[in-house]
Amino acid sequence: MGNLTICDHPLIQHKLTYIRDKNTNTKDFRELVDEVATLMAYEITRDLPLETVTVATPVTNASSKVVSGRMLGIVPILRAGLGMVEGMLKLIPSAKVGHIGLFRNPETLEPVEYYVNLPSDATERLLIVIDPMLATGGSACAAIQALKQRGCQQIKLMCLIAAPEGVEVVQKAHPDVDIYLAAMDDHLNDHGYIVPGLGDAGDRMFGTK
Ligand code: URA
Repeated sequence: MGNLTICDHPLIQHKLTYIRDKNTNTKDFRELVDEVATLMAYEITRDLPLETVTVATPVTNASSKVVSGRMLGIVPILRAGLGMVEGMLKLIPSAKVGHIGLFRNPETLEPVEYYVNLPSDATERLLIVIDPMLATGGSACAAIQALKQRGCQQIKLMCLIAAPEGVEVVQKAHPDVDIYLAAMDDHLNDHGYIVPGLGDAGDRMFGTK
């Protein structure tokens, strides 16, 4: 089973409260999501391997560490995942960015890929799938499946808020994928919204509806 990490840093929790607040306007919502994505990128990269190099300081040579060539990719699920990309790139600017677009088949209610565009060397990268809301787990599973079908094997999932139902679905389907959240909420309501959640992440981020 993949690890489940709740990123409980006080700054993440503080900002998440204002992200949830229905009175937070679009501009502030977007900025806060961006900031939380940066803070979560710090947590999700915590286990990157290091190697020792020698660096010449103004005083002498020092043995010091650098990240040892682990290449990263960020894969937002369209469209709400887009709001977390820039925040992550602030900490990992050399990461490449792929995109996955999914829609729900109105008859089967299954997610269907309509757009997948990945870096050419995606199979060699550690890919971080990002989507603010992990609700039923359907989109996350389909996105992870889309990556695996294309030969990608090192995958993590990062979301702001999850419902326990969604986490269980992803963990069952993809036990090799570690999940990072800012919060685990109570449940999904009959309309598929996370409770208490934050409403529709895409609409709040882009000012639609
Ligand atoms: N997607 C959202 O944007 N919000 C939810 O609560 C669930 C899915």
